[in-house]
Amino acid sequence: MEKVGSTSPGWYDGFRGRDVISARDFSREDYEALFRYADLYEEDPGFYRGLLKDCIAALVFVEPSTRTFHSFETAARILGCGVTAIRDPSMSSIAKGESLHDTIKMIESYGASIIILRHPARGAALYAAEISRVPVINAGDGSREHPTQAMLDLYTIARKRGGIDGLRIAFLGDLRFSRTVSSLSYALSSFKDIEIFYIAPPILQIRREVKIYLDDRGVEYKEIIDMDKAREILRSVDVLYVTRLQKERFPDPSEYEKLKGAYTVGPEILSIMRSDAGIMHPLPRVDELSPELDSKPNAWYFDQARWGLNVRVALLSLILR
Ligand code: CP
Repeated sequence: MEKVGSTSPGWYDGFRGRDVISARDFSREDYEALFRYADLYEEDPGFYRGLLKDCIAALVFVEPSTRTFHSFETAARILGCGVTAIRDPSMSSIAKGESLHDTIKMIESYGASIIILRHPARGAALYAAEISRVPVINAGDGSREHPTQAMLDLYTIARKRGGIDGLRIAFLGDLRFSRTVSSLSYALSSFKDIEIFYIAPPILQIRREVKIYLDDRGVEYKEIIDMDKAREILRSVDVLYVTRLQKERFPDPSEYEKLKGAYTVGPEILSIMRSDAGIMHPLPRVDELSPELDSKPNAWYFDQARWGLNVRVALLSLILR
């Protein structure tokens, strides 16, 4: 379906009018252009102020969020958009049983220029995009994907490290239910000489669909179950990306109870990792990442979250301008 989107000469047009459903849908050129526009947010913040006229950003959040909701809302307001939001599904007609189909049709009919959707169902964003005449951004669809998190994760790595090619990255924690790990894995496949290590017990290992994609794209990855082996690998990685146990996604609560508290990354990790290596986390954290790390230069996660605003300002402007 053709989407509504304006044109503007001299502007990178790889995102114009597009849905953002999967990190698989974007090229290296797209990501690098996005980073340039994200840099511009800091170099010349006035550039973006009020850039989009007559825009309405509709945030439809059927699951909780702090970072994604607030950074998109702030980005939209910086750009001069009006904002309309479903923030608490219990206060919308979703609580009365309204379908996602009807919710999207209604939001669109009230003049939304773009719909930013977070939903617990895998595939919800793609479904919404098929219904909607305006672009849809996937702000997280169950355990499947969170492509704008991957964009800000890549941006953070590029800024901190000076580039993405040649990256050695270890993911640690709940890799099975983490949508940020799958999206970042997909996004990394657009870059050269990437090595990925998935460190988790078998029950939390990376999903088959991600491995099939990486195999197709020729990306090198290893699944690590043994903790001695994991420690060896952590000596040489550029980035350790930690995730929390996604309690809300465990089909069996007793499995979550068994795994709760099974891993915590604390300051002792710094004696293993390279001095210039970074620790990332999409946040929120629960107990898997010690606050004692927060003041260390290796703790990249607050910059990572903060730069989500740069990336989302750039993304909205590239889609809508
Ligand atoms: N990283 C992330 O998606 O955080 P929120 O759930 O707070 O939006």
